[in-house]
Amino acid sequence: MEKLSQITTGKAKSLFATSNPEHLIMEFRDDTSAFDGKKMEALDNKGKVNNQFNAFVMEFLASKGIETHFIELVSGNESLVRKLEMFPIECVVRNRATGSLCKRLGIEDGLILDPPLFEFFLKDDALGDPLINDHHIESFGWASQEQADSMRELSLKANNILVDFFKEANLILVDYKLEFGIFNGKMLLADEFTPDGCRLWDKDTLTKMDKDRFRQDLGNVIETYGEVAERLGMQIKLD
Ligand code: C5P
Repeated sequence: MEKLSQITTGKAKSLFATSNPEHLIMEFRDDTSAFDGKKMEALDNKGKVNNQFNAFVMEFLASKGIETHFIELVSGNESLVRKLEMFPIECVVRNRATGSLCKRLGIEDGLILDPPLFEFFLKDDALGDPLINDHHIESFGWASQEQADSMRELSLKANNILVDFFKEANLILVDYKLEFGIFNGKMLLADEFTPDGCRLWDKDTLTKMDKDRFRQDLGNVIETYGEVAERLGMQIKLD
C-alpha cells in the first residue's frame, strides 16, 4: 500500500489517497482547534496520541459489533481506513449536560441525562454547525430517514459500550460526537474517537480530561490525554 496525494485536509487531520482506491490514509496532525477554528495551536505529540487512542477505541467498538472505517495503524500518527461516502452530519450523545446544550437551553452544568440525549448537527463551519432534526435531514437529502435512524441507533449502542469502557478507568463519559459514512452500502462509524471529540471527567474529582483543557486554557492537554490512555491500558508509542 502506497501513500499517494492528499485528498482533503481538516483542522486536525488530513486524508491521503493510497494505491487501493477503497482505502485512505488518515493522518492525525498536532494542530488543535476550538471555537470553529478561532483558537488554533500545535500541541506536541497530539497526532500520535490521538491516532493510537482512536485505533484502540475503534478496535474495541468493532469487537463489540460496531463496524468502523478503521483498518490498521500505518505509523505513529497515521491509520489506514476505508474510503466512505460521508454524511454531512454530526451525531452527539450526552450523558451529562454541559457545553452547547447548557448555553442553548439554560440547563444546569453537570446534570445527569437519563436516558442519554441524542442530537444531530449539520457539519457546516460557516453556519456554526447548527442543531438539526430528522426532518431537516430527509427534506434536504443529507441522508434518508432509515439512515438517520441507523446513525441514532448506532450512536446510542456505542454509548452503552463506551460508558462502561470509560467507567473501568474511573472516568465519566460526559458527551461525544460521532460521524458516519457508507461503504459498499453499509453504515460504518467514521472519523475519530479521541479526547478531542468527547468530554471525559474524572469520576471522583470531576477534573476535565479532554479538549476542554485546551478550550478553557487549563494546561497539560496532551499529558492528560496520555493519562486517559494509560488508565484505559493503552500503550502509546511516541518515538
Ligand atoms: O459543543 P458541544 O457541547 O455541542 O459538544 C458536544 C460534544 O461533541 C463534545 O464532546 C465535543 O467535543 C464534541 N464535538 C466535536 N466536534 C464538533 C462539535 C462537538 O467533537 N464539531
